[in-house]
Amino acid sequence: MIVSRLRTLPATTPSWTSEADVVVVGAGAAGLSAALAAHDAGRRVLVLVKGGLTSGSTPLAQGGLAAVSLAEDSVDAHVADTLVAGAGLTDEAVARAVVSAAPDALRRLRAWGAHFDDGPPGLEGGHSYRRIVHAGGDASGAEVHRALRVALGRARVEVWEDTVALDVEVDDEGRAVGLVAGRVARGLDGAPVGALEVGTIRARAVVLATGGVGQVYDTTTNPLDVTGDGLALAARAGAELAHVEFVQFHPTVVYQAGHRGVAPLVTEALRGAGAVIVDVHGDAVMAGRHPRADLAPRDVVALEMQRRMLEGDGPSTHLWLDATRVGSRRLAAEFPTVSAACRAIGIDLATEPIPVAPGAHYACGGVRATLDGATTVPGLYAVGEVAATGLHGANRLASNSLTEALITGRRLGERLGERECAGEHQGGPGEPPAPGRGVDPRARGELARAMSAHAGVLRDRAGLESLSEQLAQVGGAGADPLDLAAVEATNLHTVATLVARAALAREESRGCHRRRDCPETRVAWEWPVVLRATRDACEVSVARTGERP
Ligand code: FAD
Ligand code: SIN
Repeated sequence: MIVSRLRTLPATTPSWTSEADVVVVGAGAAGLSAALAAHDAGRRVLVLVKGGLTSGSTPLAQGGLAAVSLAEDSVDAHVADTLVAGAGLTDEAVARAVVSAAPDALRRLRAWGAHFDDGPPGLEGGHSYRRIVHAGGDASGAEVHRALRVALGRARVEVWEDTVALDVEVDDEGRAVGLVAGRVARGLDGAPVGALEVGTIRARAVVLATGGVGQVYDTTTNPLDVTGDGLALAARAGAELAHVEFVQFHPTVVYQAGHRGVAPLVTEALRGAGAVIVDVHGDAVMAGRHPRADLAPRDVVALEMQRRMLEGDGPSTHLWLDATRVGSRRLAAEFPTVSAACRAIGIDLATEPIPVAPGAHYACGGVRATLDGATTVPGLYAVGEVAATGLHGANRLASNSLTEALITGRRLGERLGERECAGEHQGGPGEPPAPGRGVDPRARGELARAMSAHAGVLRDRAGLESLSEQLAQVGGAGADPLDLAAVEATNLHTVATLVARAALAREESRGCHRRRDCPETRVAWEWPVVLRATRDACEVSVARTGERP
């Protein structure tokens, strides 16, 4: 067992209190689905969102939602593709439940007024059939989120914008009983200013729906507010986490020299329409590397790209996506978001290749949770990207996450209406770590660079150990009283520590976790690496028995 300590936020004195039956943290597809269902079931629901209602990854989703619709396709085929992509760690029963429910999730969105594109569904990496439903071409997430917001407005669910969840309150028996949260003040430019106004919210159910962890890396498709807060909160509450080492890198993120942070995504659907990843000579990178070539599962494509960038004619920072063969009409009609993002940086994708490199995109792991969102801490729930339900295993199948967020969010909300959900995973909560000094926000850039260098597409023990040492050296926050920058830096530090720990523990290569020093996939590792914080340490174990994750 490896032991490491997580940083914690300083103790605070609440200046306000509130209460609800259910407090939902996050307003993406998962949080809004849970909130709407719990509200419909008669619960008093409060939704907290760190920024504005349209923050998070959901409104940015491009490719769409995977759901079986063609006669030649089947639930079995979609499950089989999900299992192949998951590289031995996907739970088949979970995959079947989500895939079977996906068409219904789309029907519900349509009933709320969502408009999806006519015509045949699209194709993305790892899918055997065309089954990706789009809206506005490559603006699918925006339409999903619009429909959810309309439903939310009609239902009059209470939403507090500019309110950040800081920590879960856990009673002496290890049960979540509410949240510590902070109100964020903003300047005229919208940037957070000053100290948080800290308070507490009592609730019978605390729902984490905070999305992924992309901001822990140097280049990511994830927006600024996606800083792994839910993962850090759950860790500090003593919940079990699983599959955290499996961070999916999207193969085609626009590369710009010297640019760091959020970078535009080029949807995989463009490869589904015929675009090809090429090297400096114009040779197709995936030719002969996988039977599905450019439409192989994402981990396979990102790995081949990384290798070509390191081993080709010498190290290079990027490759290219050649979409010129797709045709200008189709590009304009079906890919308006990508076309506009490329135009903004001076690239006409109808006539020239787009510089691309893999970028951090999706957290396949997270808080260990059932399909109803129950975690190992009673009263604490996790849905959407922050949760590890067993659907994605070691690598998510493209466009399976919006549907998972909608389906699990709804299931949780309905259950919270009927009764509270009991956790199925054994283990119980740990002892939450004591308050600390947080992390200095000035360390963020360095931390993100170290994560990309040592915990990216390719990893090894030496790099991960040096990353862990670097993380241990990071200074405490000087911010007193507490501000949003220190909160996010602390949570990102926690995420980095957890990813490094889990990646060190998994001594094999599988899915999104590729170790140069352990290149084989090993049957003995067909189990989740489980992390749990205790008062003084973060325990790492391998759950070699029971269900996955
Ligand atoms: P999010 O939508 O990320 O929402 C998280 C919410 O939590 C936000 O409101 C955020 O502000 C809030 N929050 C975070 N921390 C706190 C805190 N401490 N306190 C209060 N609020 C907090 N998936 C697909 O299936 N198909 C696609 O085509 C697709 N395309 C994608 C394209 C891009 C560019 C990106 C980034 C992702 C894409 N994904 C896609 C992934 C998918 O969008 C996400 O997995 C999914 O939207 C996650 O939904 P969520 O509700 O879990 O989280
Ligand atoms: C994409 O459009 O390529 C992203 C789809 C996804 O992440 O599921």
